[in-house]
Amino acid sequence: MMSIKSSKTRLDKLLSSLGYCSRSEIKILLREKRILINDVIATKNDAKVFHEEVTFDNEPLDPPLGMVIVMHKPLGLICSHDEGEGKLVYSLLPSRWQRRDPKISTIGRLDKETSGLLLLTDDGQLLHRLTSPRHHVAKIYEATLERPLNANVGEIFASGTLMLNGEKTACLPAKLTIVDDIHVTLEITEGRYHQVRRMFAAVGNHVVSLHRCSFGNLTLGDLEVGEFRLIDPKSL
Ligand code: URA
Repeated sequence: MMSIKSSKTRLDKLLSSLGYCSRSEIKILLREKRILINDVIATKNDAKVFHEEVTFDNEPLDPPLGMVIVMHKPLGLICSHDEGEGKLVYSLLPSRWQRRDPKISTIGRLDKETSGLLLLTDDGQLLHRLTSPRHHVAKIYEATLERPLNANVGEIFASGTLMLNGEKTACLPAKLTIVDDIHVTLEITEGRYHQVRRMFAAVGNHVVSLHRCSFGNLTLGDLEVGEFRLIDPKSL
């Protein structure tokens, strides 16, 4: 994908893609003298600019296309762009980021009732690569179970033979770590629909609470629930 940063773009196109205004509203911002190009008040909506040359209200512009965000997803929020489904994870982002085009989307999903590390990006290629079934990155979940686990579950999960209801292929080997009789961590390298809950259901248990604590080498660090930070896409 072409980066806005690497090439000159029309000012109105750049600002509307970053959510500052619509392409027609830019005339108002120009009249209000809120946009500078290389410290000079911008007057033309079709000026060709580099992202880093422009300031808005004397602040550098928001990051260009290619953002990657780590969010500490709270319980109860939904990984969808459909407003009708309830409060969305995107509502935690600055309102301008919510108007960006291309849109910021989640890289995979966490269920409404799962908390923890959620990645988001506006880079369609990256999104495609990281959500492809061929991409196997380790994700670690902390789960609280309804009942103590049977002794052989670790072996079953590690075997690569566990079949989930309605699926044609077995789950790849997963690593179960027992914390105590109802608290476990599970490391999986796939992202099937409701995978962790369905794996425990397949061995006759039930997940009462679920939290993702890592994705590859990324962790939440000191991010509080509902907070997010930008990361370098190269760290993925
Ligand atoms: N597995 C689940 O069951 N739910 C999630 O949100 C993530 C993985």
